[in-house]
Amino acid sequence: MGRDTFLLMTDEPTPQLVAELRKRLARAHAPYSGVHVACAVEGADGTTHYGVNVENAAYPQGLCAEASAISTAVTEGTRALTRVYVTSSLPGLVWPCGGCRQKIFEFGVEGCEVVSLSPDGEVGRQTIEQLLPLGFRLAPSQVKPS
Ligand code: THU
Repeated sequence: MGRDTFLLMTDEPTPQLVAELRKRLARAHAPYSGVHVACAVEGADGTTHYGVNVENAAYPQGLCAEASAISTAVTEGTRALTRVYVTSSLPGLVWPCGGCRQKIFEFGVEGCEVVSLSPDGEVGRQTIEQLLPLGFRLAPSQVKPS
């Protein structure tokens, strides 16, 4: 276990959330890597949206589970994310790739938690700022309202 990873003794993900994630994990389309990943994103509005990795025979066209979940959230009108859960078929904890850290940074509120769940029940938690220090953001004056 890494220095910044610890077992949570309180505030565990609910059994319902874990069950919903496991259900999605089985739906991942990963015939090339064989690695299934599922993600849930929670919005400040109380909604939860899910995503899985969706691979493609043209390998770079594959989609990560986090990108998939964030796309669903934005599609459904949820942009302020308070927590991101990620789980995979690999042993141990997995953490979002670099590109997905940037995507979470874009939509995560300050201190947005990224919670990693291993297949055997281990839970780790990091903030998006811990996972992506000095993340890139445009100044509000450079962003068009949308
Ligand atoms: N993957 C994710 O879905 N999320 C990540 O943060 C890292 C990797 C997927 C991409 C690919 O389909 C599989 O895991 C193996 O790399």
